[in-house]
Amino acid sequence: MLAWNEAVHALGVAEMDATHREFTALVNLLADCDDADFAALFGKLLEHCRLHFTSEGRLMRISRFPALGEHEGEHHRIYGDLMQMQRAVQRGRLALPRAFVRRGLEEWFGLHLSSMDAALAAHLKRVGVARVELTGGLPVLG
Ligand SMILES: [Fe+2]
Ligand SMILES: [Fe+2]
Repeated sequence: MLAWNEAVHALGVAEMDATHREFTALVNLLADCDDADFAALFGKLLEHCRLHFTSEGRLMRISRFPALGEHEGEHHRIYGDLMQMQRAVQRGRLALPRAFVRRGLEEWFGLHLSSMDAALAAHLKRVGVARVELTGGLPVLG
């Protein structure tokens, strides 16, 4: 169970925090759902991750985040794992995807949030709202 803890998990960038709350909620739904609901929820998680990673990619580009390559590489790696799990889900094989949601994804999120996402949030706050807006982006910085 991924328990959202505002003091630990909120990074102070509204767009990122909203995305991360949604990720946490979806992972928790998947961890607890019946087999009948798993495939549809897993599809929602994939779509969430696609948008989640696109949103962070946009924030990294408009703020010229130095570690963009490393951070996006990590997004691509986990998305590749999710796609592999999706193929198992489509064949009705849920054991591995269930284990991946409960352990792999929870562990990945904790690590990724406290390292790469935290670094991006700190960079966005350093760069400041004004400069990011001048470059044409529309991020919501907290
Ligand atoms: Fe993130
Ligand atoms: Fe990220």
